[in-house]
Amino acid sequence: MAIREITKYGKDAILKKVCRTQMNFDDRLAQILDDMADTMYNADGVGLAAPQVGILRRYCVIDIGEGLVELINPVIVETSGEQTGQEGCLSVPGRYEEVTRPMKVKVRAQNRKGENIVVEGEGLMARALCHEIDHLDGIVFLDRM
Ligand code: CO
Repeated sequence: MAIREITKYGKDAILKKVCRTQMNFDDRLAQILDDMADTMYNADGVGLAAPQVGILRRYCVIDIGEGLVELINPVIVETSGEQTGQEGCLSVPGRYEEVTRPMKVKVRAQNRKGENIVVEGEGLMARALCHEIDHLDGIVFLDRM
């Protein structure tokens, strides 16, 4: 377990790139996921995506205070409703802006063992899911304003 450096917006083009599918569910992935959780908690964040620690792969961690969720190759398969509220990002320190997101989302993904999982989120969890999955497509919340 280790705290990794978080890439800052505007300093590194990696945050604008589309990430590739994660194919290997191995010890290396587990190590990076552990480090990402440490890094997120250390920075008081509720989510962190792989490109934010310099890795162009499709995975992220989220904890809105209800436990750690790890999503590998996540895809949003259903959305409903709408919410508008303030959003921030560990890669854009000190900046918070209003962003409109779905109120509910359903995500299909894999866990660290490669097993298929479904995660449903409402409110803040829906916002976090959308925000982190956006990172995997090179989209930062400022692009959604
Ligand atoms: Co972010």
